[in-house]
Amino acid sequence: MDKPAGFLESEFERLVAAHDDAPADDNVVPFSDATRPPPSADERQRRFQSLLNALPAALYTTDSRGRVNYYNDAAAALWGERPPLGGMEWCGSFKLLWPDGTPLPHDQSPMALAVGENRPFRAVEGATERRDGSRVPWLAYPTPLHDKDGQIVGAVNMLVDISERKLIEEQQSLMVRELHHRVKNTLATVQAIMGSTARSAETIEEFKTALIARIGSLARTHRLLTDDGPTVSFADLLQNELDAFDDGSEGRITLSGPPVVLSSQLAVSLGMAVHELTTNAAKFGALSDYGGKVDVTWSVTINETGRTLDFDWIESNGPAVSEPLRHGFGSRLLDFVLPGQIQAKATIDYRAEGVRIHCTVPLPAEEETED
Ligand SMILES: Nc1ncnc2c1ncn2[C@@H]1O[C@H](COP(=O)(O)OP(=O)(O)O)[C@@H](O)[C@H]1O
Ligand SMILES: [Mg+2]
Repeated sequence: MDKPAGFLESEFERLVAAHDDAPADDNVVPFSDATRPPPSADERQRRFQSLLNALPAALYTTDSRGRVNYYNDAAAALWGERPPLGGMEWCGSFKLLWPDGTPLPHDQSPMALAVGENRPFRAVEGATERRDGSRVPWLAYPTPLHDKDGQIVGAVNMLVDISERKLIEEQQSLMVRELHHRVKNTLATVQAIMGSTARSAETIEEFKTALIARIGSLARTHRLLTDDGPTVSFADLLQNELDAFDDGSEGRITLSGPPVVLSSQLAVSLGMAVHELTTNAAKFGALSDYGGKVDVTWSVTINETGRTLDFDWIESNGPAVSEPLRHGFGSRLLDFVLPGQIQAKATIDYRAEGVRIHCTVPLPAEEETED
């Protein structure tokens, strides 16, 4: 690698010399120290080589036919190999790719274009595929090099690794897709809530109150999903609705069960169900009376088919309950919406001493999955 680095050095000096009339002293670090004798050519060569190797950017040169005749350590690291000098043309990468992943022939690479068209290119995006299959996206900055007569003798290229930027871009577009998906689902939910509320309400006033409360509940679930990342705990979902009814009296609201993490889809559906149960308890059941109690207990079981969340909603000490004559939004949600949306099954038992609901919700096997 000695000779090409020597060539680069003289090219570097030529460029500095060409700008001699400019105040170059401030930004060109002299290789020699004024108090010492000037270094030998070999020593200058060695220092220049270590300077190039110390650069964090991948740097290499080719001759005018494209044969790689120098590369620094950062280039070898990016390529994942140390190709023999003269053995590779236009780039030391095992394979070159366009940003979309399609193959980029070496002789059509930015470096080949820079030499072919005798002009520099800036920030051309591409990627290297290493022998082990790993990929490194980069921006290339190929620049032709000339001898003192202006004849093209080769080119120097800098490859800037943009893996981190790509990763952030991918995460961002993933987030935007997730957001679109949630907005679409939310609008569909709001539409369904409006339709069902309109069907079960008898007056405009009743429609308005129920709709505002339901959309408010949906907004609270979304706030939980925004604040705590893409998941919500079942306990938080219950507290979100029930806290407002906890008057501080002994055993008014009791929640007990293990930590359960719910994906956004489960959280939205179960959040609506908990809202309906709470509203019903406040309108007709235990929370409509002083001294009434709501007790929610849950457990998670694991079997061959996956995990299951079971919860019991038990009301007591409220007004006497009898089998209802009408079924509204709450009943429909438990009987049809939950089974349809999240394959949950609920049974409602209108016992005289208080309503009891048992609900079984299949949970995803491991990490939550979104449709
Ligand atoms: N927690 C409860 N305690 C006593 N009765 C209840 C309770 N929840 C529901 N009900 C009865 O079941 C009926 C149907 O409830 P629901 O389907 O939510 O419709 P809506 O709330 O619009 O009346 C209610 O009208 C009420 O009579
Ligand atoms: Mg109701």
